Amino acid sequence: MLVGLGTGSTASQFIAGLAGRDVTCIASSRASAEQARGLGLRVLEELDRPCDLTVDGADEIDHELGLIKGRGGALFREKVLAVNSERFIVIADESKLVKRLGVGVLPVEVLPFLWRRTAQHLADRGIAWQLRGGEAQPFVTDNGNLILDLTIQGGIEEPLRLAADLKLIPGVCEHGLFIGIAKAAIIGGGDGVRTIGPVS
Ligand code: A5P
Repeated sequence: MLVGLGTGSTASQFIAGLAGRDVTCIASSRASAEQARGLGLRVLEELDRPCDLTVDGADEIDHELGLIKGRGGALFREKVLAVNSERFIVIADESKLVKRLGVGVLPVEVLPFLWRRTAQHLADRGIAWQLRGGEAQPFVTDNGNLILDLTIQGGIEEPLRLAADLKLIPGVCEHGLFIGIAKAAIIGGGDGVRTIGPVS
């Protein structure tokens, strides 16, 4: 079985649970790859076939399982794994549930080569942005790119439309909107664990 590994504190709990299992993994970040290798799991360097299952956390989850991801900076490979998986399951605590996506920032991974132009394109559309880490010491992703954190006043009215629009902006490598990708979630809360959608 090829298992896609997410990134973040919740995904890290899932990875820990794989210890001792006979699975091959592919990781969405260096951190998750290192954790998995440390546990003795086989980790591929290259995605050469679809994952049977990918399990990952999320920053925000709406009632249709639309997600915002990437506040940990690993959104690019997280999306690659999510869309290249037979099953993609989100695991989170109930604090991640939102009525409308965009309560917090929306991360966008951009090419360093033209990041100021990319940011200007966003500003031209009335979208406020911040370079993660600041100009003096910007956060650099595992792919060597930068992250712009977008603030959408009032939340994201049409996530699918924004997702498509962002992809058309030169310099945008990927964004943290995962719309129509997750079909199931496992949510932990004060009253126990509940599932949304088919998890098996
Ligand atoms: C990493 O880039 C993110 O998409 C994480 O999956 C997300 O931030 C959830 O992280 P936590 O499980 O640490 O909240």
